[in-house]
Amino acid sequence: MRILFVASECYPLIKTGGLADVVGALPLALGRLGGDVRVMIPAYRGVVDKLDAVQEVATYGDVFGGPGRLLLGTTRDGLKVMALEAPHLYDRPGSIYVGPEGRDWSDNPRRFAALGAIGASVARFGASGWHPDVVHAHDWQAGLTPAYLAVSEDPHPPVVFTIHNVAFQGVCSASEFAGLGLPSWFFSPGGVEFYGNASFMKAGLVFADRLTTVSPTYARELRTPEFGLGMEGILNERAEVLSGIVNGIDDGEWDPETDPLLPAVYSARRPQGKARCKAEIQRRLGLADDPEALLFCVVSRLTGQKGLDLVLPHLDSIVARGGQLAVLGTGEPGLERHFTEAAARYPGRVAAVIGYDEVMAHGLQGGADAILIPSRFEPCGLTQLYGLRYGTLPIVSRTGGLADTVIDANEAAVRTGTATGIQFSPVTAAGLGFALERAFDLWADKKTWKKIQAKAMAHPVGWESSAAEYMALYDDLLGTRSV
Ligand code: ADP
Ligand code: GLC
Repeated sequence: MRILFVASECYPLIKTGGLADVVGALPLALGRLGGDVRVMIPAYRGVVDKLDAVQEVATYGDVFGGPGRLLLGTTRDGLKVMALEAPHLYDRPGSIYVGPEGRDWSDNPRRFAALGAIGASVARFGASGWHPDVVHAHDWQAGLTPAYLAVSEDPHPPVVFTIHNVAFQGVCSASEFAGLGLPSWFFSPGGVEFYGNASFMKAGLVFADRLTTVSPTYARELRTPEFGLGMEGILNERAEVLSGIVNGIDDGEWDPETDPLLPAVYSARRPQGKARCKAEIQRRLGLADDPEALLFCVVSRLTGQKGLDLVLPHLDSIVARGGQLAVLGTGEPGLERHFTEAAARYPGRVAAVIGYDEVMAHGLQGGADAILIPSRFEPCGLTQLYGLRYGTLPIVSRTGGLADTVIDANEAAVRTGTATGIQFSPVTAAGLGFALERAFDLWADKKTWKKIQAKAMAHPVGWESSAAEYMALYDDLLGTRSV
C-alpha cells in the first residue's frame, strides 16, 4: 500500500515537538508492515542538505507567489521524504512557525496552504509515477490537504487526518482565506469557518474521510468543550469516524541499551549503567554528586499546556526532602525566568537549561530517576514513553495519552507488580504535591522502586501495535479489510 504523509515536521530533518517524532517514526513502522510511505514536508532552510540521493520529481510554476518543486530524498534511516521547495515560503532563518518579532510568520496561511495544495496535487496526479492509495495528513498545517481534494468531484485517494494537538487551530482571517484558491462557499459554518475566521484544523476535521488522534482518552476528551476548544461540535458530529491510536516511540533512536548519546548504556537486566548516567548528568548540570538524591527531570516546551507552573510551589519541599530537579525546556519567558531563578536559589539542587538540546534530552532520560509531566491536557505525550523505556519513572497528570500509557503505582498495582509510574488528578499544585510525596515514599523503599522501574522498562512502547492499527484503518478505508 502506498501512503502519502503530509506534515510540517519530521525527525531528524526538522523538529519542534512530538509531531516530528511521530512523522519520522510511524512511516518506518508502516514500512515494516509492507507500507510504501512517502512523507511530504516543506523544504525549510537546511532540510534538503540532510537528505541523500535527492532527485526532482515535480515542478510547479506558481506556488502562492513563486515557483516550487518537489525533491525526493532519503533520510539516514531510509525514510523517503518529498521536500516541497518553494524558497519564497520556506527558505528563511529561525523558527519554522515564528518570525523574529516572536509572532507567527504573517504568511503562515499561504505557507501551509501550499503544503496542503501540493499534497492534494500529489494525491490526485502522483509524482513521477508514484500514486498514493491513501493520504495521511497531520495537524492544522496539513489540514487543507483534504479541502483541496474536496474542490473537485474527481476520484481521489481517501484521506486520514490526525489531530496531534487541537489547541493549535491554524486560524486566518476571511480575507486571507479568500487568497488561498478555495471556493468561497467553503467559508461557511459547515466548512472551514470558525467563529468568523477560517481554521485549517477545522478544514481537516470537516473534509477528511477518517479522523484520528493520538490516544483513546484524548479522542473522548476532544468531544467536550474543555478539551475540544471549540472543535467539539464538529468532532461530535463526526464521532463515528473519529478514533484514538496511541503513539509509539522510535526504539532505534530511544533505547538505553544502545543509545550513543548516553555516557553508559544499560538495560533492565543490567541496570548499572544508569548510575553512571546519573553521576554524569549531575556533574554536567552542576548538581551535587549524590546517588541517593531523587533526581526529577523535565524535558518540555514551557507552555501552559504542560502545567510546569505547578512544579514551582514544590521546589522547597523537593529540596527539603533531599531531591534534585533538572529542567530542560524553552517557551514562555515567565516560566523560563522562574526556573532560571530557582536554579540560582538552590545551587547544586536545581538546574535549568533554557533551550532545545536533543543530546541533553537523552542524557536526562538516561540519568534522572523520574520525569515530571503535569500537563493540563496531553494528546499523547512522548516523554513519558521515553521515561518508561529508560526506567525514569513518569509522574504524570491523568489526562489524554498520559492516562493511557502509565500505570499508577497504587496499592493494588504495586501488589500485582503492574505499576509503571505515578498518575495524579486533579491537575493542581496540590494534586502534584501528593504525587511528589508518593514518589519520595517509593524512593525510600528501594526494592519497590526497582520493581516498578523494571516493569516500566518492559512496558511495550514501540510502534508495532499502533502501526498495525493505522494499517487496519487504511485497509478498512480502502474496503480491502485484510482481517
Ligand atoms: P509536544 O509535542 O506537545 O511538545 P511530546 O511529549 O509529544 O510533546 O513531544 C515532545 C518532544 O520534544 C520529545 O521528543 C521531547 O524529548 C522533545 N523536547 C521537548 N522540549 C525539548 C527540549 N527543550 N530539548 C530537547 N528536546 C525537547
Ligand atoms: C502534540 C501533542 C503531544 C503528542 C504529539 C505527537 O505535540 O501535544 O501530546 O505526543 O503531538 O502526536
